[in-house]
Amino acid sequence: MSKLFEPIEIKGVTLRNRIVMSPMCMYSCPEQDGRVQDWHLVHYPSRAVGGAGLIIVEATAVQPEGRISNEDLGIWEDGHTDGLRRLTELVKSHGAAAGIQLAHAGRKSETDGDIFAPSAIAFSDRYKQPNEMTADDIRETVSAFREAARRAKEAGFDVIELHGAHGYLLNEFLSPLSNLREDEYGGSAENRYRIVRETIDAVKEVWDGPLFVRISASDWTEGGMKPDDYVPMVQWMKEQGVDLIDVSSGAVVQARIESYPGYQVPFSETIRTGAGILTGAVGMITEPEHAEEIVQNGRADLVLLGRELLRDPFWPRRAAEKLGAELDTPVQYERGWK
Ligand code: FNR
Repeated sequence: MSKLFEPIEIKGVTLRNRIVMSPMCMYSCPEQDGRVQDWHLVHYPSRAVGGAGLIIVEATAVQPEGRISNEDLGIWEDGHTDGLRRLTELVKSHGAAAGIQLAHAGRKSETDGDIFAPSAIAFSDRYKQPNEMTADDIRETVSAFREAARRAKEAGFDVIELHGAHGYLLNEFLSPLSNLREDEYGGSAENRYRIVRETIDAVKEVWDGPLFVRISASDWTEGGMKPDDYVPMVQWMKEQGVDLIDVSSGAVVQARIESYPGYQVPFSETIRTGAGILTGAVGMITEPEHAEEIVQNGRADLVLLGRELLRDPFWPRRAAEKLGAELDTPVQYERGWK
């Protein structure tokens, strides 16, 4: 019996299987606008037709200066909600749950204007120097996450994921490599975690559905964060009511990453057993048997696929066939499928 295709319930939301479309920026909004375009309405629902259990919409900016690029999706104003609602309706009408990744790019923002980070250190020569956030800036960003979560709820999303990975704002606070603050937001693990604590609490004021956090479990650099360092932080997240950790790695500083199929799966295992929380594994997982092995052996509860689902929206159907599992065929395709 395939476990990959066994439904899973997380805080009242049932996913039809454990295959998740990993959030991936499409850079497809007209400059400065952030609104859902036809592209998003084709791209995401295609993967729902393809059979994924959960579609996590790309990093969506909670503040305009928190976009990675000028072409990012946005959720910083109420005018963004209608387009996102259309998107969730389409995804859900094809049997998948709809998730959204709420994001702030911090010092990795390549937008026009000022950018913000825990400390005034540029990511590299190619990036702008960020402003060190004041306590007021931090308060504003935390409340922007709350407002974004409220809009996500109004738009009909089933799952919210906070982007705490890949060297974007929340990750920049968590890692001692990018956070050199001397106030209550820097220094000890508790202090570096403080903005994440405040963000989770703020989001939970308006959101009682499944809450995921994506982390970069390793900075891949001496003196940086390692999976074991994340275990206590994830325990705090769990105490605050986070349901699942989506375990990625890297990109807080430039570093050499040894990547090969499943290279981040051991990080997921460390977090899952260390903190006793549901996890998602991601990174170069392309073969159905590999995805099956990960969930069967308790290395993760969900398997996220990125590029493989860009290459093949019907990957879950191919996997179901290989693993001998059932996946409903869209009625429109029934005559032609077999
Ligand atoms: C990404 N990735 C990514 N991650 C994230 O947390 N938020 C995002 O918006 C994006 N955007 C994005 C765009 C594109 C085009 C790619 C290829 C990747 C990372 C992605 O979610 C995933 O973690 C990695 O691609 C590794 O998984 P795969 O592709 O090896 O299955």
